[in-house]
Amino acid sequence: MENMTVNQTMMALLTRTTPLIVSRLVISKKMEPLRHENQYTKKYSLSSTRQITKLLYSDHKRPVKQKILSFYNFKGGTGKTSLSFQVATHLAILGFDVLCVDLDPQGHLSSVMGIPEDFNGDTMYDSLINGVPIEETILNIADGLHLIPSNISTTRIEVQLNLKNKREERLKELLDPLREKYDFIILDTNPTISTLNMNALVASDRINIICETQPFSLMGLRLLVSEMVSFFNDMKTIPNFCIVPNKYEIKTATAQEVLGALRAEYSHYVLNAVVRKTEEINLSSKMKLPISAFCKPKSLALEDIMDLVHEIVSQSCGNSGLQAA
Ligand SMILES: Nc1ncnc2c1ncn2[C@@H]1O[C@H](COP(=O)(O)OP(=O)(O)OP(=O)(O)O)[C@@H](O)[C@H]1O
Ligand SMILES: [Mg+2]
Repeated sequence: MENMTVNQTMMALLTRTTPLIVSRLVISKKMEPLRHENQYTKKYSLSSTRQITKLLYSDHKRPVKQKILSFYNFKGGTGKTSLSFQVATHLAILGFDVLCVDLDPQGHLSSVMGIPEDFNGDTMYDSLINGVPIEETILNIADGLHLIPSNISTTRIEVQLNLKNKREERLKELLDPLREKYDFIILDTNPTISTLNMNALVASDRINIICETQPFSLMGLRLLVSEMVSFFNDMKTIPNFCIVPNKYEIKTATAQEVLGALRAEYSHYVLNAVVRKTEEINLSSKMKLPISAFCKPKSLALEDIMDLVHEIVSQSCGNSGLQAA
């Protein structure tokens, strides 16, 4: 990820400007490319890209109100990690300062961010249970992108957490002081109904429920939303959430029906952005690179991910019609 490069065409696509605007800015900043074969294949480092995108992406000028965003579903394999990764990396490419927190003992987000499987440094477990200062668990992944990793040791968190006071609020207490340092904090959760996941929900300014668009997805979603609302009721508060349709298969009638039913039942809670099922999203995790680092400019996956990122930024910066349930 640190070695990823971005060309001017991609910078324009990501910031929704034009290659000409990007090119003028690059010249005015006397920015040197890392390498190029011709004018159109000049490639820039992540740090240089961030200097340009920061200037071009207008949402930077507005304060981020919803900073801590979780990617949640207690069903496995809906795309929580894939979308956490794409959203976090593209926010960093757009010039935001991003912290990712891997809250899954499977450690998939850590792995896609280049952390080796046998990593034995501090994780959230050490901070939540052993009192290690949270700053000491943060790894520098790339310019603008930090990570609190996870590994199998996080499995032990459940028993230990259940012995603590205010057991669902401990993550929030740890993360709140980091709000000053980061524009966004992205939480990737694990596919269970666990105390650790309840901590993620309580810590979140907004919960992004990642939902597949398959026949049985709606039933699972109803259960998830009602469990979540009743959990927040017990805490005398209400959740701020939205639903992100993922793995949408445009050619399948059932997927269209499910999306229609989802919008009918949850109306404005469902984002406009819909992420289609594409091989590039799969490939992206395998290559451990954000989509924009390798895809073609006309890629469907890039279009969907950028729709998602821009909608998240716009709502987080207060453009939202979204309110708590
Ligand atoms: N939009 C998509 N298009 C194609 N493949 C996708 C898409 N979203 C996710 N996948 C694939 O689906 C699989 C599960 O995705 P992912 O690991 O992100 O789900 P998850 O919800 O994090 O799973 P878990 O519950 O195990 O943590 C992966 O192989 C991933 O590449
Ligand atoms: Mg996952």
